[in-house]
Amino acid sequence: MTDTTTPQIRIRGLYKIFGDTPERMLDKVRAGMSKPDLLAQENHVLGLEDINVDMEAGRTTVVMGLSGSGKSTLIRHLNRLIDPTAGEILIDGEDIMKLGPTALRDLRRTRMSMVFQKFALLPHRTVLENAAMPLEVRGVAEAERAEEGRKWLDRVGLAGYEDSHPHQLSGGMQQRVGIARALTSNSDIMLMDEAFSALDPLIRTDMQNLLLELQEELHKTIVFITHDLDEALKLADHLVILNEGRVVQQGEPQHILLNPEDAYIEEFVSDINRARVLRVRSVMQKTPPEADLHGDVDADDNLESVIARAGGDVTRHFRVLRRGQVVGQLAMPDVIRALVPRLPGEGRDDAA
Ligand SMILES: Nc1ncnc2c1ncn2[C@@H]1O[C@H](COP(=O)(O)OP(=O)(O)OP(=O)(O)O)[C@@H](O)[C@H]1O
Ligand SMILES: [Mg+2]
Repeated sequence: MTDTTTPQIRIRGLYKIFGDTPERMLDKVRAGMSKPDLLAQENHVLGLEDINVDMEAGRTTVVMGLSGSGKSTLIRHLNRLIDPTAGEILIDGEDIMKLGPTALRDLRRTRMSMVFQKFALLPHRTVLENAAMPLEVRGVAEAERAEEGRKWLDRVGLAGYEDSHPHQLSGGMQQRVGIARALTSNSDIMLMDEAFSALDPLIRTDMQNLLLELQEELHKTIVFITHDLDEALKLADHLVILNEGRVVQQGEPQHILLNPEDAYIEEFVSDINRARVLRVRSVMQKTPPEADLHGDVDADDNLESVIARAGGDVTRHFRVLRRGQVVGQLAMPDVIRALVPRLPGEGRDDAA
């Protein structure tokens, strides 16, 4: 599905071990020593183990996992707030471990931006000054800064709040300033570590929708960290699931939902509202329909809407369209089957 794009960020054989002599622990970890054993026997913490992930330009890669699984450790490697114990990080083909101080500063200031969980706005600066901050750091003249800042505040729905101070805004609005600030920097890469996790559920949904809308237009390379599976499934083009510092599965989110590779992932996805998350494209048959069917559905419709269309009639059989073209067919029994999570050890083979 992603073979027309190129990875902008490549992570190759990345290990991070915390402790006094991390390099000396590498062989033990490579030989299979577990995270609990490494802690108990060697007093070192296994942060990340042999991570290999390609992040495509213009796409959203979501890294998800439970608390302590290594998500923040991973994203902090991308701007070298953390240096690896072993492995490589390539950005636009360049090994960032080889960057000198000037190039590293340039990477952090102009090639990537960050959106933080706690917003990290400067309290004594106005909303506009906060939004324009990346340009101030780069020495851009005030008039130009203000123009860019206004443009992006407007784009995230904050026109009229330029002269307010952060404490006068709600949490959701403060995070809109955080997003505007990231966009003002005009960098290709946006790093978002639990950016929406501090927000109330309804506001959080609004912010997810805002991000999807912006992304449709701007095509940033987004690295989004979350521990929330619904959020991950909603935002991800590519989903990476971490557990105890290892990638347990990665791929297109719908594919992971239909083809969990192990019991951990099955457990993880078992509570999801599959009818709402799964799309027609993931469960349809790709052969063109021969006979007259019971109407058309869109490849991006979710199964919930198809069930409503069928009025509960399990004998219905639809033609599937994408942008007006026929791309396949969908029989209701396939819809129903996809709603039942696969049980551990069951070898059903769903093509996504
Ligand atoms: N500086 C450090 N020294 C020692 N151990 C660390 C350090 N930073 C992280 N760790 C450990 O590395 C592991 C991964 O931590 P990390 O903060 O990346 O997890 P996370 O997935 O971001 O969790 P959360 O959802 O709670 O933010 C944890 O076991 C953590 O205790
Ligand atoms: Mg974290």
